[in-house]
Amino acid sequence: MATLSVNVDHVATVRQARLDTEPDPVTAALKAELAGADGITVHLREDRRHIQDRDLSVIRKTIKSSLNLEMAATEEMYKIALDIKPELVTVVPEKREELTTEGGLDVKSNLKSIKSLVGGLKAAAIPVNLFIDAVPDVIKECHRVGASGVELHTGRYAEAKTENEKRAELKRIADCAVLAKRLHLKVHAGHGLDYRNIGPVRDIREIEEFAIGFSIIARSIYVGIEDAVREMKRLIG
Ligand code: PXP
Repeated sequence: MATLSVNVDHVATVRQARLDTEPDPVTAALKAELAGADGITVHLREDRRHIQDRDLSVIRKTIKSSLNLEMAATEEMYKIALDIKPELVTVVPEKREELTTEGGLDVKSNLKSIKSLVGGLKAAAIPVNLFIDAVPDVIKECHRVGASGVELHTGRYAEAKTENEKRAELKRIADCAVLAKRLHLKVHAGHGLDYRNIGPVRDIREIEEFAIGFSIIARSIYVGIEDAVREMKRLIG
């Protein structure tokens, strides 16, 4: 059964709308754990639009499960990761003008810098996944730079307009999951997953973990974060 890492970024999005102290992503992370989350994910963006350094540091000190730090491949984030020592770093591309992470990492064009980042973090015993589009050549590049695993971008599947498109995206994800596994890479998946579309991706047995944020935080406004997490856990398996 795949595990669920709950991304609490958007609790901080609401707080930052008023630059206040509530709602607190730390409380949300602890409640998500109580409801069965296997891990907590935060994306410390370079522009600090939601999660702040304080959030990351307090979440690190308080959660009992696994911390997945999503970050851009920059010197600043590298130093923060070495200091925080999350159970996992997921390297993501970042653009200031985007609403959310839009595409996967361009591993090929940044082979040298990604390899050095991965090597440095792994030397500090921090596993590193790369967030990538489900493309076989990119999986092979992740293997080449020594990544611990991949997080397959499920955004195109989530946004597919027709059944055919959805089936094609699912197949791409499933084929890449098999290839990644064959190369002994960890296989995670995420982006745009919600209560309605999780079923078919949950059935891809190679996927070991789902990173889900927006849909869980959105539902928690109505039912509370514990029920929202419990329901997603139930759907995952
Ligand atoms: N995985 C990665 C690498 C992400 O950047 C995000 C969005 O922050 C997610 C998963 C979660 O996506 P969503 O909020 O759409 O569930």
